[in-house]
Amino acid sequence: MLNDLLQLLGVAIWFILPAYVANATPVVLGGGAPIDGGKLFRDGRPIFGAGKTIRGFVAGLIAGSLVGVLQGVVAGQAYTYVLLGLLLALGALVGDLLGSFIKRRLNIPRGGAAPVLDQLGFVVFALLFASPIMVIMVLRWEVILTILLITPPIHLATNFVGYKLGFKSRPY
Ligand code: CTP
Ligand code: MG
Repeated sequence: MLNDLLQLLGVAIWFILPAYVANATPVVLGGGAPIDGGKLFRDGRPIFGAGKTIRGFVAGLIAGSLVGVLQGVVAGQAYTYVLLGLLLALGALVGDLLGSFIKRRLNIPRGGAAPVLDQLGFVVFALLFASPIMVIMVLRWEVILTILLITPPIHLATNFVGYKLGFKSRPY
């Protein structure tokens, strides 16, 4: 029983790792010009805001995809893992962008908290983008459920560490 749960946890983290890395990398390597070019939406508020930068997006995409390449080397299914890494990373970053778009429409300022959306939005989109590969891999639904359950606490914990290390100005 405990062994099964630990195995499920291991499979879940192994699978979703490129999305986690893609989401965390911009915090360290991001900054500079914003993706929205500083433009405002028709409601007069930023499209995404200054927290979504081109450098952060590109760095996250490269780092997440590199994880996929490493996984392909380790697991020996290069094509599957490279494609999976790319889709999970892209999905995580697009989901994060969409989250910021929604936050700005709700008048939540850059860096303001949007519970659930902040912790789960990126991973839901990563899974959506990677869903064709998940079908090919016959990924069990329990793995997806596990990912959805563990991501919020992992996200909150890593953000807290990022805050303590001085990478983030807010602990969430
Ligand atoms: N970041 C970046 N480029 C991205 C995503 C994130 O440069 N595409 C960096 C920014 O420095 C950002 C930090 O990572 O401040 C933390 O990301 P996140 O918490 O997603 O952004 P917030 O600043 O909280 O902005 P928002 O309210 O839009 O989520
Ligand atoms: Mg934030």
